[in-house]
Amino acid sequence: MRRFGLAIAGLAAALALTACGGGGAGAPTSAAPTTGESSAPAGDTLVGVAMPTQTSERWIADGNAVKEGLEAAGYKVDLQYANDDIPTQTQQVDAMITAGAKVLIIAAIDGTALTSQLQAAADAGIKVIAYDRLIRDSGNVDFYVTFDNYAVGVAQATALLAGMGVTDRDGAKQGTPEKGQNIELFAGSLDDNNAHLFWKGAIDTLQPYFDDGTLVVKSGQTTIEQAATLRWLQETAQKRMEDLLTSTYGGTGEGLKGVLSPYDGLSRGIITALQGVGMGPTITKGLPIVTGQDAEIASVKLIKDDIQSSTIFKDTRNLATQAVTATQAFLSGGTPEANDTETYDNGVKVVPSYLLPVVTVYADNIQKELIDTGYWTAEEVESGVAS
Ligand code: GAL
Repeated sequence: MRRFGLAIAGLAAALALTACGGGGAGAPTSAAPTTGESSAPAGDTLVGVAMPTQTSERWIADGNAVKEGLEAAGYKVDLQYANDDIPTQTQQVDAMITAGAKVLIIAAIDGTALTSQLQAAADAGIKVIAYDRLIRDSGNVDFYVTFDNYAVGVAQATALLAGMGVTDRDGAKQGTPEKGQNIELFAGSLDDNNAHLFWKGAIDTLQPYFDDGTLVVKSGQTTIEQAATLRWLQETAQKRMEDLLTSTYGGTGEGLKGVLSPYDGLSRGIITALQGVGMGPTITKGLPIVTGQDAEIASVKLIKDDIQSSTIFKDTRNLATQAVTATQAFLSGGTPEANDTETYDNGVKVVPSYLLPVVTVYADNIQKELIDTGYWTAEEVESGVAS
């Protein structure tokens, strides 16, 4: 709960900036109406928030932070989770439109599956904000708040290279790395636009080391389709890792040095498979370098314990704040400020976006990045469980 309290504090600061015309990140580019009436929203203005799943703690934190931020700004909120089921999410969005929502904030399960809902939203004059994941194939996406997703992939590959001693943490090559080091590659869900950006950032970063023979994907599974993990499921990643260990690494993992993983849930499945054939149990004792994303508490503990090498921290409190700020901009008749108007072509239009930066977390900066910032407490990191 402390995290969400801080999110509200951050939001209040952002709103204060906006109110003073400070032009803070994501502040509206055109001012709120000044016709004498307050720009504060009527208490009955409804905002619909559609989140993908509660099986990952990040989406629970996102949903709570967005809801609390919107409520603090005076809106009514309909927050729904869809159990990673596409028809459930489309029905939820339909219901929000029917209920009279004025803005929809949507983290899509399948980025291509909401076209008819968004047409109905546009017809009803509802603004649509894509949250974290781009919604594709629709001209009716008004704004996108997210992190720099290509940079996430670069950071994951850099953390893999650094963990293996090929580069330093800034990506600078270290001496003459040994040739023929075996790694395996995992990707996210192909229907999530982010998965493609994470992959591209990572592969662009690893490519020179494939080209000069430093790295080898021994299984030969080098396409995103081969590496993909439908719905980002931990057990699917565990099963694929087990199969790779059997088919390619003699059932023992011998010679496997690193695994590119784009999300902490997958990382934990991969690590379970690696430890299951007797590797490790720690990196110091020979566990391959495994990357991650989201700073989920179970993975932060594994990083502290020398089991998972790294994660990419995306401060979802800031993302929630951006979503709320963008909502306010739309509902006061303005347009949210974008800081990227080129990257996110959804197949129909380039969606104006606000991108937030990301941070790589290793064991030695957990304190600074996650505990000192109030994202997790020291006790949570110690136990690996969110309180
Ligand atoms: C992505 C998101 C990641 C991770 C993943 C699995 O879209 O950007 O941070 O959460 O989904 O949930």
